Amino acid sequence: MTTAHAHPNIALVKYWGKQEKPGNFPATPNLSITLAGLTTVTRVTNATSDTFVLHGNTTNDPKLVRWLETLRGTFDVPPLQIESENDFPTSAGLASSASGFAALIIAINTHCGLGLNQEMCSEWARMGSASAARSIFGGFVALVPPQWQAIPMAKHDHWPLEVVVAVTSNEPKSVNSGEGMERSRLTSPYYNAWVRDAATDFAAASEAIVGRDFPALAAVAELNCLKMHSIMLTSQPTLSYWTPASIACMDRVRSLREAGHDVFFTMDAGPQIKAVCLPTSTDAVASALSKTPGVLNVIQSSLGEGARVVT
Ligand code: PMV
Repeated sequence: MTTAHAHPNIALVKYWGKQEKPGNFPATPNLSITLAGLTTVTRVTNATSDTFVLHGNTTNDPKLVRWLETLRGTFDVPPLQIESENDFPTSAGLASSASGFAALIIAINTHCGLGLNQEMCSEWARMGSASAARSIFGGFVALVPPQWQAIPMAKHDHWPLEVVVAVTSNEPKSVNSGEGMERSRLTSPYYNAWVRDAATDFAAASEAIVGRDFPALAAVAELNCLKMHSIMLTSQPTLSYWTPASIACMDRVRSLREAGHDVFFTMDAGPQIKAVCLPTSTDAVASALSKTPGVLNVIQSSLGEGARVVT
């Protein structure tokens, strides 16, 4: 048996839309921070047939079945029992597929002796879920052309940002990211502008990270998130991942910033708010968000390491 741990990551410059070729390649460069405070634990054991057990329940995940089939096109991988647990809501916009595929390829790599280095693990993780490519590494991570294997930009101790996640719903999302982004590519009138601006946002965010310039990172990351949600909202049928509590949390983050706190928000394909802050503001942000109507609980996290085998 081999056990691996991986953490979700949160994109500060988002990926929303794929290239029109096989291999699950994002249409735009994107970058993220890997969290320490949320964890996926995945155990891989030899079995007589493939079984996938999520939180103790046997499930059939077509995305995982397809991914294993592709992996077996290149490597000799025996039937496996894969058991996985997240200590956070699954499929609710908290990047469970990112940490899930990252933990899985790292575990299979060791268990089956595939001999992949981290870059190659990142490439295989990307084929499962493009954001998973980034969870192979810790700290600040970029997913960029031409290789589309994630690249570590800076370690987690380069800039000790903290994240307060305000959970506003534990329900799985109604439209998954893959289906949602394809709908946006095909129907949003603003999709081309989103693709066109991505490199500029990516460059501005990279520069802010290198220079540890919080206001600059806040400005580009918050706007990039709102651009992605504009694409979602203008897709047909619309993709609306926000709840009233998500909107209340965005307003709360803006007023905390006006009151002098170093904080900005970002959101993915789900109703949870992720407030990224400097450590001096974390307690105030956590307290304000936990009192915001509709917030079920808050999770505080620092930046963490990449995916790794633990036994
Ligand atoms: O990799 P996927 O299919 O889970 O899509 C991720 C999409 C976003 O989380 C919304 C943005 C991102 O870059 O992580």
